Amino acid sequence: MCGIIGYIGHRDIVSVLLAGLKRMEYRGYDSSGLAVLGSDGIDLKKRIGKIADLEEDLNGQKIPGWLGIGHTRWATHGVPSTLNAHPHKTRSGELALIHNGIIENYTAIRDDLSRKGHHFTTETDTETLLHLIQDYYRGCTLEEAVREALKHVKGTYGIAVISRTEPDKIVVARQGSPIVLGIGENENFVASDMAAFIEYTKDVIYLNEGETAVIYKDHFEHKTLNNHKINRKPERINLSVEQIEKSGYPHFMLKEIFEQDHTVEDAIRGRLREDEGTARLYGLGKYKDALTDAKRVIIVACGTSYHAGLIGEYMLEEFGGIPVEVEYASEFRYRNPIIEPGTIVFAISQSGETADTLAAMREAKHKGAVCLAICNVVGSTIAREADAGLYLYAGPEIGVASTKAFTSQITVLALITLYIARRKKMSILDGQKWVKEMKSLQRKIQTILKSDGYIKKIAEFFKDRPNFLYLGRGYNYPVAMEGALKLKEISYIHAEGYPAAEMKHGPIALIDKDMPVVFIAIKDGTYDKIMSNIEEVRARNGRVIAIATQGDEEIKSKAESVIYVPEVAYPLMPILTVIPLQLLAYHIASFRGAHIDQPRNLAKSVTVE
Ligand code: M6R
Repeated sequence: MCGIIGYIGHRDIVSVLLAGLKRMEYRGYDSSGLAVLGSDGIDLKKRIGKIADLEEDLNGQKIPGWLGIGHTRWATHGVPSTLNAHPHKTRSGELALIHNGIIENYTAIRDDLSRKGHHFTTETDTETLLHLIQDYYRGCTLEEAVREALKHVKGTYGIAVISRTEPDKIVVARQGSPIVLGIGENENFVASDMAAFIEYTKDVIYLNEGETAVIYKDHFEHKTLNNHKINRKPERINLSVEQIEKSGYPHFMLKEIFEQDHTVEDAIRGRLREDEGTARLYGLGKYKDALTDAKRVIIVACGTSYHAGLIGEYMLEEFGGIPVEVEYASEFRYRNPIIEPGTIVFAISQSGETADTLAAMREAKHKGAVCLAICNVVGSTIAREADAGLYLYAGPEIGVASTKAFTSQITVLALITLYIARRKKMSILDGQKWVKEMKSLQRKIQTILKSDGYIKKIAEFFKDRPNFLYLGRGYNYPVAMEGALKLKEISYIHAEGYPAAEMKHGPIALIDKDMPVVFIAIKDGTYDKIMSNIEEVRARNGRVIAIATQGDEEIKSKAESVIYVPEVAYPLMPILTVIPLQLLAYHIASFRGAHIDQPRNLAKSVTVE
């Protein structure tokens, strides 16, 4: 995790770095810092806490200089503290370094360097890398020293290094953590995420694994770690500043929940063929046939993306007729999965940078599977390393709790299902119905969003409960898990998501008059069964909150609170039923005064194992 930024140019360095760090605060927010290189050498400012705390310390102070680097941290090695915050500077003041990733063999390097007389002051793995570079920085250029040092490093890194004796450059390198260069006019940028510099330039170059760059004010050099030149042209990115601002909402999470009528539509746009009742999936390129003929599909993902994958499993098996397994990427990568010919692996990831998902995809590729990505972040590592894939086009998701990415992921999985189903057994008429249902989603999401005020009242009533249970069946069982995840990660309330029928095999013991139980009780094939589960909870005085189909009067007599959603074809229902759960979690967290966009201990993209 962690966000890094570097800038070289004519603007006020501190302002550029602080603005960029704020945009990347989703990557980590336990401490931050910056280093500016000017005529008096490298000036370092850092502190524990959020970027706003660092900004307050600086109090509008200008640090004269022509280049700088900045960092926002999510601690891996060493507690969050001002001392452990980046940048790290050598004792002589000659070098400063920022790092995103983990140096796995840092203890061995540190022992070795200590024997040579290096003195370490922090608990971080990053300081070891700085000393290693310093050790090689004798009679050679900074770039050479960095390259040499990195030969001895195991682990992951996105780094930026500056030197007082080579004051015209920032040296950067990437292995396992994203780095993107922003190419301006007489100014250049580097960051973990292009959002950090998007108001200055939209021309970017993504570094691939094992690549380095040296950026100067007016040009840059791009090479492999083995010193071979790379001539990759900058690409123009279609991202506006408005897309990464809160636009009047108190939190990014709320903004992103309210964007879903558009983001679901954006995932669909240009991908439906009404006349033929099917989807067109250009992004899958030549792999479309392989997908239709697949003998087996494996979906690897983490967190919310994993929950979307579970819904994909239900759809692809029922309508696509393909056996599907959904695996936590972190588990898949470390067992010895059997990948037979005809296996297609989908890697689902909003960020496209999740370390476990990336590693799982690489392992599957290594074993010969065709790997397809479903990602939101354009140009992300998973998107680029996959054989082909489909983007969500949901725009930047900044709230740590994933919301709009989830509904877009299900939407894309529904498009894939439709495509396969139509090439197999689904009739044109059924395909056209599916298309129509997908097209109706935008309007139906708007209807649900109008219930926000009512959901807020329910949230206020239940906000102090220490535990919640979420229950659903079939397609809405993963939604129950997602609802529970949303609540726990932003409100710190303990919550569990279960298949409703599984309740009586254990969780039912938890139910008493203080336990709110959120049922997703939609009028589908599971309705009667779920009504029985509601009765079981009521019989034990549990407090029932139901997400129900518009027009279902019966449920009013069974649930304490009912949140209605419009009817849609049942495989698409999770796109609707999850929205009230996102809002419920949001408002409960808000009533409890939690840090909604930056919950404790979390980060938006988990780029460490
Ligand atoms: O970027 P990804 O979709 O790969 O991220 C996976 C999880 O880290 C992510 O969904 C996480 O669980 C969210 N915080 C959930 O809201």
